[in-house]
Amino acid sequence: PLPPPFQVPLPIPSVLTPVSTAGGADRYAITQRAASAEILPGVRTPLWTYAGTFPGPTIESRRGRPVTVTHRNELPVPTVVHLHGGRTPAASDGYPTDLVLPEGREATTHMGHDSAHGMHDPRAVVTELTRDYTFPLDQRPTLLWYHDHRMDFTAPAIWRGLAGLQIVRDDAEEALGLPSGPRELPLMIADRAFAADGGLAYPALDPTLRERPGVSEPYLAGVLGDVILVNGAPWPVHEADAARYRLRVLNASNARHYELEAVTDDGHRLDLVQIGADQGLLATPVTHKVLPIAPAERYDVIIDFSGVPIGSRVRIVNGLGSGRTRDVMAFRVARKATDDSRIPRTLSHDLPAWRRSDAVRVRDFSFRTGRMHGGHGWLIGGLPFDPARSDVTAGLGDVEVWRMVADVHHPVHLHLVGFQVLSRSGRPPLPHDAGLKDTVSLRPGESVEIITRFDGYRGRYLFHCHNAEHEDMGMMANLEVI
Ligand code: C2O
Ligand code: CU
Repeated sequence: PLPPPFQVPLPIPSVLTPVSTAGGADRYAITQRAASAEILPGVRTPLWTYAGTFPGPTIESRRGRPVTVTHRNELPVPTVVHLHGGRTPAASDGYPTDLVLPEGREATTHMGHDSAHGMHDPRAVVTELTRDYTFPLDQRPTLLWYHDHRMDFTAPAIWRGLAGLQIVRDDAEEALGLPSGPRELPLMIADRAFAADGGLAYPALDPTLRERPGVSEPYLAGVLGDVILVNGAPWPVHEADAARYRLRVLNASNARHYELEAVTDDGHRLDLVQIGADQGLLATPVTHKVLPIAPAERYDVIIDFSGVPIGSRVRIVNGLGSGRTRDVMAFRVARKATDDSRIPRTLSHDLPAWRRSDAVRVRDFSFRTGRMHGGHGWLIGGLPFDPARSDVTAGLGDVEVWRMVADVHHPVHLHLVGFQVLSRSGRPPLPHDAGLKDTVSLRPGESVEIITRFDGYRGRYLFHCHNAEHEDMGMMANLEVI
């Protein structure tokens, strides 16, 4: 039985304690392991977790201060860790075939498994039960997230729980006087479906997630759940002061899009004042009544409860949902409070000022459905992902314009770089396209132009659709920076 909405308190993911902070860098250790949690009242839900929880523990970091995370894999399958939005050297970026092999792989593969093919050959199980991922974090402060990125099986792995937050901060942002401490809340929004026994339901063709990728036919467009989780709790409620709050919102859903609105009990909509995008603060705030958010996008938003009657509620709803998927979470405004936070008129001065005329190249990509390996696929430029193929080669330092056309909704993500949205079907970008992004939602039939500069590191990266099922079914390509 599903719980009534707005009863479960909003959990805040715990902040991970470093193993060491010596030598100007932070070191962490995370064991990826099976665990269970009471997500719906009265039943345990088996999960795959980072360090035992869903969401995984939050990593708090400082701009320019390197972080190394040692991941140990105690799950039954190989995994890959990607820090989404991180400006990361390729060796730590989590390329989909850079596997952390499972603990105990040898024991399970010995039992009746044909050991002639690659990954299942016990001799191929070397020492990669753990892997160090190093993140320089020489980048604008923002909310990042880390999640699984294994080739063909990213979507079910995230669905089972392999997702967590990482926040990058710096002194300049902290000096702005934005709401902070208990008035800054990370909100990881993700829908899930549950089986009768409390287990997560996912229509994988191969429930062991080892051999055969893909989902059963009705789910080819993406897997949706009928339960909306925020920080792992169904339709939670948070007791708030009558004051400004800073909401660090991530859509960690596999395929669900949201149009968020904040609705008071008497039916009017509060302003959602956007101060940041995927890749950090905007130049100036942008006020929304409705904030669209596609899978993997993040928005940094200030909401002000000071005018809301004490004891009443503000519901965060999804205008695209219906029935129970319309509700997301609620705030109960519990008490009057002083508030010395502010929203400066100028938030940041360091956004890049790329102009079209700076671009050394314009590339065109289509994001469309098609046939792949005899089945249904999602293709970029007519091709499914192939790790052995070279797709885009860009020079370090080059500015490029990319024109991308879509058949249906595709949230397109580039690794390594942030970009700006230049246009949508020949028209100016939308208000929520402001700032520096790493994921842009192509809407059905739309042609979107972005501009970026390939800097940071050379190496092999990716770009792909972040509808996680589309990604697993081919909609990914190589991005090589040389
Ligand atoms: Cu959020 Cu390539 O991923
Ligand atoms: Cu897509």
